[in-house]
Amino acid sequence: MLDIINNADLRTHNTFGISEHAERLVFVENDRQLLQALSLADKHAWPVTLLGGGSNLVLAGPVRGLVLAIRSRGRRVVSRSGREVIIEAEAGENWHALVNWSLDLGLCGLENLSLIPGTAGAAPVQNIGAYGVELEDVFESVEVYDRCTGDIRRLHREHCRFAYRDSLFKQEPGRYIILRLRLRLSSVPDPKLGYGPLANAWQATGLQRADARVVSELVCQIRQSKLPDPSQLANAGSFFKNPLVTAEQAEALQQCWPGLPSYMQPDGRYKLAAGWLIEQAGWKGSRDGDAGVHREQALVLVNYGRARGEDIMGLATRIQTDIRQRFGVSLEMEPIVLGL
Ligand code: EPU
Repeated sequence: MLDIINNADLRTHNTFGISEHAERLVFVENDRQLLQALSLADKHAWPVTLLGGGSNLVLAGPVRGLVLAIRSRGRRVVSRSGREVIIEAEAGENWHALVNWSLDLGLCGLENLSLIPGTAGAAPVQNIGAYGVELEDVFESVEVYDRCTGDIRRLHREHCRFAYRDSLFKQEPGRYIILRLRLRLSSVPDPKLGYGPLANAWQATGLQRADARVVSELVCQIRQSKLPDPSQLANAGSFFKNPLVTAEQAEALQQCWPGLPSYMQPDGRYKLAAGWLIEQAGWKGSRDGDAGVHREQALVLVNYGRARGEDIMGLATRIQTDIRQRFGVSLEMEPIVLGL
């Protein structure tokens, strides 16, 4: 039997700590419960909203219908072939616990993605990325339930339309429910130290041999020094994407603002550091009621206590307008907004 909770407060289920209610909430631990919940929702014509760790979410109002919180657990090695090892995790597994488990097995590939909040099943949705690695770099496949066809099937990387903080799952919201995720790791270290502060921290260790566990620890230290821990100060990580602009626009901006960090992309466009733009505009550390801009990282909006979704969204809109006026650059929100 499914235990459906009516009028459930979602405050402890989103890292922004926003108190909004779900009309109905159900926790599902396996495929059978998931399918049961979906057929119940179909029967009553309840709209369905998926919830993983709630770490990339702004609750802007009550969520109608049925919120499905995925709590499936389990992780395993699927195959080993030479140095390549495929692992699999159920969608409800905690991401960082999965990273640690893979490191305990001596596997490499996830170390740069240490300490990212959220679940394994949510990782492909926004193609999580940090310190020079994106999920798509290690992605093998997902098993999904396709709500359009009613099938369970496997989607490989080429089907998932991965891009910067984007994927098929974000582009077609509600269609695919990720059941489990497969990642392609390596038994031989191949450290990715392209991100400047990580390279510096690695050099300072004086170690000669690559060691994924050490890289993971360094990544954790860098994250902890810049990014607020959601259990101490509620937030949803980077609130805006780093904007992509044409080479001409990047050059024009560099002329006016020589300090603006920008990174050339494979397609010739440039990615600008949104945190820098927001800091230059004077927003860093600012606060309006309980909604604020983090003191150490201007790309992170925080909830000091009782901010509501509308307070966070209002602050975000004011920042977007200001950045457009000052720099002619549009900032796109990163988290998903529910309850509008
Ligand atoms: N910067 C500032 N002021 C700030 C923040 C940043 O000047 O307040 C400058 C930094 O000095 C640096 C540049 O902006 O030159 C980039 O900053 P940082 O390396 O901290 O990374 P980011 O671009 O702000 C992105 C990701 C993070 C990820 C880091 C490290 C996005 C939207 N965010 O942040 O991801 O951890 O790179 O790889 O791409 C997340 O998605 O939630 C997230 C935290």
